[in-house]
Amino acid sequence: MKAQSAPTKPIEIISSDAAIGDEATHLAAVRDMFAAIAGRYDFLNHFLSLNIDRYWRRKVYAQLTSVLADDNATLVDLACGTGDLALKLKSGASAKVVGADFCEPMLVIAKKKAAERSLNLPFVGADAMRLPFADSTVQALTISFGLRNLPDIKKGLAEIFRVLDTGGRLVILEFTTPVIPGFRPVFNFYFRRILPFLGGVLSGSRPAYSYLPVSVAHFPDQRSLAKLMRGIGFADVKYQNLTGGVAAIHQGVKP
Ligand SMILES: C[S@@+](CC[C@H](N)C(=O)[O-])C[C@H]1O[C@@H](n2cnc3c(N)ncnc32)[C@H](O)[C@@H]1O
Repeated sequence: MKAQSAPTKPIEIISSDAAIGDEATHLAAVRDMFAAIAGRYDFLNHFLSLNIDRYWRRKVYAQLTSVLADDNATLVDLACGTGDLALKLKSGASAKVVGADFCEPMLVIAKKKAAERSLNLPFVGADAMRLPFADSTVQALTISFGLRNLPDIKKGLAEIFRVLDTGGRLVILEFTTPVIPGFRPVFNFYFRRILPFLGGVLSGSRPAYSYLPVSVAHFPDQRSLAKLMRGIGFADVKYQNLTGGVAAIHQGVKP
C-alpha cells in the first residue's frame, strides 16, 4: 500500500476555530456527558460488553499491522477516549501513534495509562469536526465508538479525508445493526433496556447510557455508512460485521 512505503510528511498542528451554533451545543453536550462518566468509563465498557470490546479493538489492530510497522507513518486514533485502542496500536509499533479527543477528563486517564507503560504516545485535545492536523499528513486514522457522536457524520468524514495522506487508511469501529434475525430482538432488549439501566446506576449518569442506544439508532446501518464513505471520496470501502453485527469495522482508503 502506497501510504505504508512512501516517504511521509511530518504531522503539523494548525489552529482551529471554536464551534458555532447548533453544532457547538451538540459538541458541548457530548463533551460534558463523557466528562461525567470518564472515571467509570473503562470499567463499564468491559463490564457491559462482557469484555467483548477488547476483542473488537484487537480486530482493528489486526487491520493495521503493516502501517504500524512503518516508522515513517503517523496514525491518529480519533475520539480516543481513555486511550485503550491507541495503547493497543502503539504496543510494539514503529509508527508514530497520536490519540486525539476533545474531552479533557478522558485524555487525563489516557495519558496516565501511557505514562504507566512508559509509552511514547502523545494524547492531544482535538475536535473531530475541525482537526488540528494539516492536509494529507496522516497515514492511518482509527475512530472507535466515536463517529456516531459527531453532530454531522458526513462533515466529520470529510474532515478525516482532508487530513489523510494519499493512500491513507480510515478504520471505523462502531456499533451497528445486528444482522442475525433471532438475535436482534434479544440484543435490542439488552441494549435498549438493561444496558441503560445498569450503565446509569453504575456510572451515576443516566443520560450517558440512555443516549447510547439512541445514538446507535440514529447512526447509519452498515451499507449506508459504506455509501456515505464512498460519497466523500473513499475508495476500497468495505465492512466486516463483528459479533453478529452488534459492531462493525468499516475501512476505506483515500485514493
Ligand atoms: C464512546 S467513547 C469511545 C472512546 C474510545 N475510542 C473507545 O473505543 O473506548 C467516545 C469518545 O468520543 C469523544 N468525542 C465525541 N465527539 C467528539 C468530537 N467532536 N471530537 C473529539 N472527540 C469526540 C468523546 O469525548 C469520547 O471520549
